[in-house]
Amino acid sequence: EDLDSLEDRPPVLTIMGHVDHGKTTLLDYIRTSKVVASEAGGITQGIGAYVVPVPIDGKLQTCVFLDTPGHEAFGAMRARGARVTDIAIIVVAADDGIRPQTNEAIAHAKAAGVPIVVAINKIDKDGANPDRVMEELASIGLMPEDWGGDVPMVQVSALKGDNVDELLETVMLVAELQDLKANPHRSAKGTVIEAGLDKSKGPIATFIVQNGTLKKGDIIISGEAFGKVRALFDEKGNHVDQAGPSIPVQVIGLNNVPIAGDEFEVVSSLDAAREKAEARAEA
Ligand code: GTP
Ligand code: NA
Ligand code: MG
Repeated sequence: EDLDSLEDRPPVLTIMGHVDHGKTTLLDYIRTSKVVASEAGGITQGIGAYVVPVPIDGKLQTCVFLDTPGHEAFGAMRARGARVTDIAIIVVAADDGIRPQTNEAIAHAKAAGVPIVVAINKIDKDGANPDRVMEELASIGLMPEDWGGDVPMVQVSALKGDNVDELLETVMLVAELQDLKANPHRSAKGTVIEAGLDKSKGPIATFIVQNGTLKKGDIIISGEAFGKVRALFDEKGNHVDQAGPSIPVQVIGLNNVPIAGDEFEVVSSLDAAREKAEARAEA
């Protein structure tokens, strides 16, 4: 393992905000997908993780987006999303303004110590009042850059795509200042962002790799769950052989369902993993 070789890694960008303010629609526009249309009741119920090549200054740059639910019930997912991200994109609907989960999302971003970029969304709608949203944000301590503060805010229509390019450029400028690096040559470490039991595949987890590279055949442990990575899948369900820094990946091979939010790491052998898991179970 070459422990000194740091390389650039893609930024992880988490989209948060109140229910129905347009988070998934924004990602659908960026990814040219139609996830909202497939959601039950139009409500996001889990964390979606997507690797997206984003055109910046005529060049494609890889970004990783996490979509979080805005429904009140899913506060733990918002907290988790904020903890693994580099930048929080807070979406506020211009016809609705700051609502309870907007405040909560901002609090999670602040607690995680990550910079905030605000997307003031739905500016195409009758009744949209972006200035009022900026006033509301200023009144809770998020001073817009345009007013001499330090929080970038971009007025967008996720539905029509208006100013989405500008939003992405703004986010990438903030990311560049962070000088994000990791060592892809070491063994992987990261966080479980989703986990569950699949009828045919057994325990399945979505990891986000934060350092190193996770490979098929690696021995992994997360909490008391452990096993050998049998298969890795990208967000489209395609088999992949490995996942490097910042990259989300679905993993099968664990003996149990790990706990979302827990860390995972690669260890040297199944015996080492079993010993560690047993020690944790007894603690
Ligand atoms: P949750 O994940 O459930 O919190 O919702 P969300 O924030 O992901 O919102 P979603 O993308 O599901 O959008 C909610 C509704 O607002 C949908 O009907 C969208 O079509 C609509 N919407 C989102 N963005 C815009 C926009 O820019 N303009 C207009 N007019 N409608 C929008
Ligand atoms: Na919704
Ligand atoms: Mg959504």
